[in-house]
Formats: sequence, structure tokens, C-alpha cells
Amino acid sequence: MVVLGIETSCDDTAAAVLVDGRMASSVVSSQHAVHRPFGGVVPELASRHHLINLLPVVRAALEEAGIAIGDVEGLAVTRGPGLVGSLLVGLSAAKGMALARGLPLVGVNHLEGHLLAVFLEQPIAFPYLGLLVSGGHTSLCVADGYGRYRTVGRTMDDAAGEALDKGAKMLGLGFPGGPRIDRLAREADPAAVRFPRAVVRRGRYHFSFSGLKTSLREYLAGGTRHARSGRSPVPGPGGTLGEGAVRDVAASFQEAVVDMLVEPTFAAADELGLTRIVVSGGVSANSRLRSRMQSEAEARGVEVFFPSPRLCTDNAAMIACAGRHRLERGESDPLSIEAEAALPLGSP
Ligand code: KG4
Ligand code: ZN
Repeated sequence: MVVLGIETSCDDTAAAVLVDGRMASSVVSSQHAVHRPFGGVVPELASRHHLINLLPVVRAALEEAGIAIGDVEGLAVTRGPGLVGSLLVGLSAAKGMALARGLPLVGVNHLEGHLLAVFLEQPIAFPYLGLLVSGGHTSLCVADGYGRYRTVGRTMDDAAGEALDKGAKMLGLGFPGGPRIDRLAREADPAAVRFPRAVVRRGRYHFSFSGLKTSLREYLAGGTRHARSGRSPVPGPGGTLGEGAVRDVAASFQEAVVDMLVEPTFAAADELGLTRIVVSGGVSANSRLRSRMQSEAEARGVEVFFPSPRLCTDNAAMIACAGRHRLERGESDPLSIEAEAALPLGSP
């Protein structure tokens, strides 16, 4: 079956073609340059740019796959969660194509896309634990089978990627900051500053990053209480950090985020008796998170899987991958489905 996937939930405009589950093309048009001057995604600008980019991106995906629009047999489109204005652009375009061409359409949960992205490269046996870490989401889900998911933990405040982006902004590293922190941290000391790790008592596998953000702000304002003796890049009140110190602070901040992701994930895997973990979402491209997850998994006899980086960040191939099972069973959604900002995946 030839499936066209469309994804516009945040600031990336994406389209992809799957042929019998094989990725024939995946095109992503990033809006980073549009949002960079604002230091974060501006929803109104995001939807306007989706409007401009969507049809060229769909055409490029069809062309790269060597497929004519007439060959498409089903449509899979993200319907939530995400920015409503952004979601509406992709969903409306997909509904228009479904109506004009008489094609079946399925609305896909963006998080299900991230959970299943790994299948584009390798089969994984169910059940597995999914750690979804992106700029908009941080949650732990159990995948029992296609369409059968349970959310067992989530962030109480910021998403991990959001925390990294905000931390990077405070350090003057620009937007999106996650990849920049990742790069700088490779040549730095992650133990230079001991930032606090939050433990959420409300739920065993929940996450919280807002306290960490506050600690960084306090630290940069000249507070020395998190600094360790020895090689500590203490800025001093009102001082500015040198290049090496910025690297060390970035590495220490990233280390705290990674610790707070790794610990609840392995606790959940252990207590729920799951021996496979899939890490997905933009932050799963982080090299420190990857190596820490890998070494922790080896020590505990658990398997950990990561999609390749281009499938970790937002893309439409994962949406087509998640939608194709329903399409292949002959299912479709009515054209009355709506975009939903807070669409849950399994019970929260
Ligand atoms: O999945 P994604 O593309 O979009 C959302 O659904 O949010 O994730 C984007 C997030 C951003 O916060 C970005 O800073 C982060 O993923 N990110 C990274 C890396 N690459 C992307 N964070 C840390 N290290 C990276 N290498
Ligand atoms: Zn995402």
C-alpha cells in the first residue's frame, strides 16, 4: 500500500511516502530560521509557514519517491497533540486531498508516531517501554501492540527539550539549544557544577525540569551554592562566563537532564518487567543520553533502541508508519475529525 504521511504539529513541515511499510521518501522543511530571532517557536508564525511550505514539501516527497499523487492509496496525518494552528494546516490539506481523490484518511497521534518510528529501520517485539523526549513532550509509555499504549509517566512541567532550549538561551547559545549544548558538552566536564536532580513524588516515573532551570538562572546570576570546589566555573555576581566555563556549565546542565531521564526510565523498565526500551523524539538525538542509556542498558541486561537521528526529530515517515496499520485493515476516519492540542496517548 502506498501511504502519504503529513506532519505539521509544531514548527517542521513534513511529508513522506511509505510503500508497503518501506520509507520511499521523507522530506522535512525546518522553520528554525523563522523562529530563531524569537528564541522559541512562535505559534502564529509556525502556522503561516506551514501554509507556505506544505504543498511544495508534499510535491517533493512524491517526487523523491517517484510516485504520482494518483498512486497514493491512503493518507495519514497528525491530528494532535501540538499547536492547533499548525495541526490545522496539515489536517485541512489532508482532508482536501482525501475528498478530492476519494482516499481513506487516518488521523494519527504524534506521540504514537515517535513510539513507532523505530519500525522504519528494524522490527521490535512488543511489549516495550518508550521514552518520548522532545521539545514539547517528555513521557514514558508502554507499547503493548499497535494501537495499544499506556502512559505510565510524564513531565509535570517543562519537556526535557524545552529545558535544554531554555538553558541554552540563558547561556547565550541560540535556538534550538539542545543540539548546541550536545556539541559543546562533548569537550567539557559534566561534573563541574552539581545542579540538583528533581525527584517527583506524585508518580514514580514522572519528570520535572523547571527547578533545574531555576538553578541555572540562580547560578548564572552569581549564586555559588551549586558550585563544587576545585574546577568550578563560578561566574561571581554579575560576572560573565568564559568560553570554557560556558562549556562546563552546559555539560553539567545536560548531565542533570540526562540523569533525570535515565533513572525513572530504568526504574519503570525494571518494575514493569520490560526488557526492551525505545527512545524517541528530538532529544533522543542527544549523544550523552544515547551513551548513558546504552551503558545503563548493558549493565542491566536490557536492550535499548534508537531511531537514527533524522527519524528521532519530527518527520512524516513516522506518522505514515503509525497510520498504515489502520489503513491496511481498511479503516479510516471521518472527515469531521478535528485537530486536538492535548490529544492523549493511552490513559495519562
Ligand atoms: O521531536 P522534535 O523535533 O520536536 C518536538 O516535537 O518538540 O524535538 C525538538 C527538540 C528541541 O528541544 C531540540 O533542542 C531537541 O529536540 N534536540 C536535542 C538534540 N537534537 C534535537 N536536544 C539535545 N541534543 C540533541 N542532539
Ligand atoms: Zn515530536
